Amino acid sequence: MSHQQQLPTVLVTGGGGYLGSHMVVMLQQAGWHPVVLDNFSNCQPEVFSRIERITGEPVTVVEGDIRDASCLNRLFDSYSFELVVHFAGLKAAGESVQQPLSYYDNNVSGSLQLIQAMAYHQCKRLVFSSSATVYGAAKQMPLTENSPLGAVNPYGQSKLMVEQMLRDTAAADDEWQVALLRYFNPVGAHDSGLIGEDPGGVPNNLLPFVAQVAVGRLPEVQVLGDDYPTPDGTGVRDYIHVMDLVEGHLKAMAVLTPGHGCQAYNLGTGQGYSVLEVVRAFEQACGKPLPTRVVARREGDVAQCFADPGFSQQQLGWRAQRDLAQMVTDHWRWQQQNPQGYSS
Ligand code: NAD
Ligand code: UD1
Repeated sequence: MSHQQQLPTVLVTGGGGYLGSHMVVMLQQAGWHPVVLDNFSNCQPEVFSRIERITGEPVTVVEGDIRDASCLNRLFDSYSFELVVHFAGLKAAGESVQQPLSYYDNNVSGSLQLIQAMAYHQCKRLVFSSSATVYGAAKQMPLTENSPLGAVNPYGQSKLMVEQMLRDTAAADDEWQVALLRYFNPVGAHDSGLIGEDPGGVPNNLLPFVAQVAVGRLPEVQVLGDDYPTPDGTGVRDYIHVMDLVEGHLKAMAVLTPGHGCQAYNLGTGQGYSVLEVVRAFEQACGKPLPTRVVARREGDVAQCFADPGFSQQQLGWRAQRDLAQMVTDHWRWQQQNPQGYSS
């Protein structure tokens, strides 16, 4: 029996993606045997060699789709999973408006197949990648887990629907132990610079866009509106270091004990930063000024969005440790060492 086969086993769907790859590193280092299920729709095989370089452990990877029930059944027959950490899905809010059915298919149908396979195989512990997007256009900041829910696009709707399926499932069967982790804005990278976010095409999100300007792939940072009711007029968000985020998952795994039921937890720092503050911090990290131009607002954007992380602190014994300077420094190290991402 190999070393890994003696360890507790966890299924990580989407474990080759940005957040999932950091989770796999953390799980291997915390004494777990993560088994990745990924359909490679947004994942480069190179990521797994990089993880192995960090941890010294090979990654068990199964190529397959969460929408494929027979693939899921084979997987659950082959391994005895303690629990599932479910990252797999599509995540671009703008794209979801153009291709809503892909989002309902991958995110909602896919999650439904996974939950059904889990129920059938008596594996009823799940950590789900939700998003602060489930707070819709909430006005009252900071956001607590009890803030009103809503969706402003099909992506947000898909997260709300999966949350609801899980709440209903846990209400009907008290063996289920589910953590709905509502991520704010994950950024940064592992401090080795070996793994990080590698978006295909032009990035939608601020940090990857700024990083690609810094490395010379894009000409200028576009500030999407400077007339918001915020201190400097640009949008304010709760950026959270990806390593803090995945540590939050380990803490959530630890509270999935009998009687937990289904519970949502915010994963944010509680501190908002504006677009201009992020750009300035990145300029410090990369040691050069970045060309910046203010353009029109992006449709669907809110002025500000930040968490009240108090409930997660209290219940999970977790709080984010890494500040904005570390987020941008680590993001820059990854981008500088891998100007074209994993295909560098
Ligand atoms: P990502 O695209 O980097 O990773 C997702 C992974 O899932 C990829 O490796 C992709 O190949 C895989 N995948 C997609 N559809 C699949 C399917 N049907 N079957 C099997 N594998 C599939 O995204 P990420 O940034 O790592 O996000 C992970 C999760 O966290 C997503 O559910 C996303 O909605 C959620 N989330 C992300 C953010 C963020 O800013 N990154 C914020 C909030 C929530
Ligand atoms: C986006 C998604 C949201 C998702 C979240 C985390 C949209 C409409 N929303 O939200 O569903 O949960 O990411 O992944 O896509 N900005 C710029 N220039 C850019 C890019 C962004 O100024 O090139 C600004 C935005 O207006 C915003 C801030 O930077 O104020 C952060 O934007 P982004 O990284 O896209 O995250 P969110 O808007 O929070």
